[in-house]
Amino acid sequence: MIGIISAMQEEIQALLNQLQNVATTKKGMRTYYKGTLFNKNVVLVFSRWGKVASAATTTQLINDFNVDEIIFTGVAGAITTNLNIGDVVIGKKLYQHDMDASPLFDQFEIPILNKKFIETKNSTALINATKLFLNTFSNYINIAKAEEFNILNPKIIHGDIASGDQFISSIEKIKQLNANLPTAVCVEMEGAAVAQICYEYSVPFSIIRIISDNANNNATIDFPKFANSIASNYALGILKNYFA
Ligand code: ADE
Repeated sequence: MIGIISAMQEEIQALLNQLQNVATTKKGMRTYYKGTLFNKNVVLVFSRWGKVASAATTTQLINDFNVDEIIFTGVAGAITTNLNIGDVVIGKKLYQHDMDASPLFDQFEIPILNKKFIETKNSTALINATKLFLNTFSNYINIAKAEEFNILNPKIIHGDIASGDQFISSIEKIKQLNANLPTAVCVEMEGAAVAQICYEYSVPFSIIRIISDNANNNATIDFPKFANSIASNYALGILKNYFA
């Protein structure tokens, strides 16, 4: 069984439209949709936003559905200038950028685990699935809509991700993140929390993040527009190739 967690209800909806033999379970204000997606047994769930919500969703998913792999999909803000709206980040290392129990522990260190980041599983298959998706982009994405966001030639990066309970929308904050976590390429609010729970339960974890904004003053405008009109079809296309 593969668990698919998405940070957006819209994305769950696009995947739900393709889900067959659906059985629904409601618990803790979350709805878990079990079924077959492109011939694989999956459970889909909306993580809800932030580290606490997504960690709770992940724990429930692991305990109730016996998943042997979790894939997270959602959008993120870019904090490196070589990423543009519409590019895809496949996560390598996941940091909690707001974890700071110093001076008891080093900044970013997760107490007890003795780790500053959690690594994803080998992502070669997911990277190949994403490359194939990007090469067949127009089969999934409305090109006129993509052009509204200046998405011309979207690319993939295999890079580090910083998660925290903050929506980042200022250059000052980006500079601070770049200084403290120089390898992180994008920011979001759930990935590292889900990664930590997967690590603690020994469940292989992968993450797909689509760039929806540049974490700057425009982020609050770009993020919802992109999330609503484009992002969900990325997840659909990438997962279709991944499961093939
Ligand atoms: N998710 C998408 N864009 C984001 C941003 N700028 N900050 C945090 N999470 C995000």
